[in-house]
Formats: sequence, C-alpha cells, structure tokens
Amino acid sequence: MPQVAFNRCLILTNDDAGCEPQFIHRAMKLSKFGQKFSRQSGINQLMVDLGEAYASNHPDLCMLGGGNPAFIPEAQALFGREMEELIENKLFEKMVGIYDGPQGETTFLDVFSQFLNEQFGWNLTADNISLTNGSQNSFFYLFNALAGDMGDGSFKKILFPLSPEYVGYADSGLSEDMFASRRPRIEMLENRQFKYRVDFDELEIGDDIAAICLSRPTNPTGNVVSDKELAKLQALASKNGIPLIVDNAYGQPFPNVIYTDANITWSDNTIFCMSLSKLGLPGARTGIVIASEELTRVISSLSGIITLAPNSIGASLMTRMIEDDELTNLTETIIKPFYRKRLDTAIEIFHSEFADLPVLMHKPEGAFFLWLWLQDLPISTNELYHRLKARHVYVIPGEEFFIDIDPAWEHTRQCLRINYALPSDRLQRGFRVLAEELQALYSA
Ligand SMILES: Cc1ncc(COP(=O)(O)O)c(C=O)c1O
Repeated sequence: MPQVAFNRCLILTNDDAGCEPQFIHRAMKLSKFGQKFSRQSGINQLMVDLGEAYASNHPDLCMLGGGNPAFIPEAQALFGREMEELIENKLFEKMVGIYDGPQGETTFLDVFSQFLNEQFGWNLTADNISLTNGSQNSFFYLFNALAGDMGDGSFKKILFPLSPEYVGYADSGLSEDMFASRRPRIEMLENRQFKYRVDFDELEIGDDIAAICLSRPTNPTGNVVSDKELAKLQALASKNGIPLIVDNAYGQPFPNVIYTDANITWSDNTIFCMSLSKLGLPGARTGIVIASEELTRVISSLSGIITLAPNSIGASLMTRMIEDDELTNLTETIIKPFYRKRLDTAIEIFHSEFADLPVLMHKPEGAFFLWLWLQDLPISTNELYHRLKARHVYVIPGEEFFIDIDPAWEHTRQCLRINYALPSDRLQRGFRVLAEELQALYSA
C-alpha cells in the first residue's frame, strides 16, 4: 500500500472576487525513496519508546536499552578543556566558521594517518581517510556505493557473515533486500556463556555479493571475531575481489573497549570504519572511513553532494589530543577501565539474579552490551519487552538484530541486549525485574 502523508495546502479558487481562500487536506505523494525512508520500522518505534522513557524522568526508570556511551566525567572534562584551548588559541572560529573540503579537515587527515601508521605499522596517507557525519552516515555511503542496482544491470548485496548484527544497518539500503546474512555456529562455553562463531562452511560468496561487513566488537553481542576468523574473512574477500568492511565503532584505536586479544591489519581491500561516538562524543557526529584511495574519492564525492562537508568539530577536538598522545592515554587509562569495571559488576549481578534460570550470556569480549539467551522462553522477547516496559525497565529485544535470518529459527526470539554502562544500583534493579518476569514465565 503506498504510504501517504497529509499536507495542509492553500487552494486559491479562481471564482468570484470576494471568495475566501480555502485550506484543504491533500495526500502527499512520496517517491520510493521517500516511502522507504519514512516508513515505520520496528526499531524506529523502539527508539521513539526509549526517547519518551528518557523524557519521562520516571524515578524507577532503568534504561538498559539504548546505545549511548556512559557519561565519564574525566573524559568529559578533557573534551571541555580541549574546547577551551581551541577558543583561547583562536582555532574555534575556524572550526565553526568555514566549510572543510568534502574529505574532511586536512590537518586531522594528516595527523590521523600518521598516528595509524605508528600504532599499527600501516602505510597510509591522508588520501586513505575520509570523514563523515558519524559511522551511520559512513555505512549509508558505503553500502549504497558498493551494492544495489549495479551499472551492468546486476543486483548486489552486502553480506553479514555473522548474524546477529548491528540493527542500524538494516534499513540503510536505497534498494529493498540489499542485505544477506548467515546464521552463526554457537559454541557453548563454561560459566553459563556461549560464543557465536562464523560458520565458514555456510559462507559461500556468490556473484551477487558486493562486500562483506561485520562489527568488531559486535553490537549487539559483545563478540570480538577472532584474529584468525578476521584473517579468513579478509582472504575470502580478497579471493572474490570484494572489500571487507570492519565496523570499529567500539574497537581500536578508540574507544578500544575490547577485553580480549585482538589486532587489526590493513590491506587495500579492507575498509575500517571508526567513530568518535563511543569515546563519548556522539553529538560531534564524526565518522572516519579508512579505505583505498579510489574509495576515499568516492566517499568524498558523496559527502560533497549530500552534506557539502563533514562536521569539523570532532576532527578539531581530536587533532592535538592525537599529536600529544592524550587520546591513547584517555582510552587506555579512563575509558577502557571504566567499562571493564561496569562489565564486572554486570557479570556479578547476572550470576546472582539468574542463578536458577535457563539464561546464558554471550561471552562479553567488547563493546558495552550483554547479550542474553533466554533458552526456551515461552513468549518472544518482543512480548517480554512490553512486560518490562510496564515496569519502567527498558531492554532491546533481539529479533531486529537478526537481519535477513529466517524468523522460524526460535533463537531469534530468545535473545535480548542490555547496555551495562549504567550505575550498579540501576543495573541491579533492572536485572531483578527481568529475573522476576522470567521466574513467572518459566514457572507458568
Ligand atoms: C556497531 C555500530 N556501528 C555504527 C554505529 C553508529 O555510530 P555513529 O554514532 O558514529 O553514527 C553504532 C551506534 O550505535 C554502532 O553500535
């Protein structure tokens, strides 16, 4: 059914003088693009819910839902001081007063390419880096530049080799059905944990695949695909002449919320997407794409046409901090220990609240989410979401993260994501309410 919106239109009658202009309501016709990008998706509705919950300021509110980074006072003080320095050094005027080129602020591009070369032994120049208005923006450019209707008449897709994956990818294609994904292999571990593994036996790359993409650490699961798995994916992409896109929103070099040994290696067919958001600067809307020179020119052209220029604020704030090694210091001594401590608390609460329940946790290797598997849950996690919402506890039901996976697989309805970046008293209450609801459901 076509989606329409109603517009209040002024209709001037060409009748006799003295006739009053009239307002009527008329259906607004939307293009396919307009329809696709304005239709209600499950996750959009959820985000509206979360926004309303935040705004309600309810004293019992336990917001274990959204993807916001925590407010970390030491980090915020550093960013504040850096802004003051920009003002004192008369750099503020440049930051807010001019459009950068479409590739992004040039000093930052130079400084950051050098930084990456020093950190990881890569061989980049500024021509391998482009800035965007956040990673979400980067993925929109990348997915639609690489996949969809191709010049030769074929249709190509982006492949997520390990489902569940970041829900923000799901609606970002200009064409319908632009994403393919594969079920994981589930490895059972000790201590009520499990881990998703890429099932390489099921990972044939057909001609219809334009690129492989994964988040590492993964939102929603906290999985960190191993170096070995990553190298295998890189080799598979290279063999098929397609890029591998690695979403580093929570990874190296910042915020580096990774609790396991993981490395990243550059190759010309690898695209790394980084972001300042999870460092604590989601409002600065800064995404960074590391890619071949050819693809960097494509991203830059897209930026020029779609936004004229990317935001300058993140780049200006970070340049000196990178040069003086303050950024590394911030991630290693403040951000990472902060989340590690919150994770330890969350694990403790998990074991005390869910001791008698058939609930497992994905091995938390990175990012700031716990991914729970509620085995044999008698209702879907979507329904559970509503029960919890009635008690002011917000989680994200897992269904939407299984992009392109057959919903007949019961596992898709048995998982949920919890953001554990909250203070422990909130976390405790949230887990307690969840445990009570589960007790009632499992014993019914
Ligand atoms: C895995 C992942 N990728 C990308 C993004 C988008 O981040 P940004 O704020 O840079 O657009 C998010 C945000 O939650 C994310 O979790």
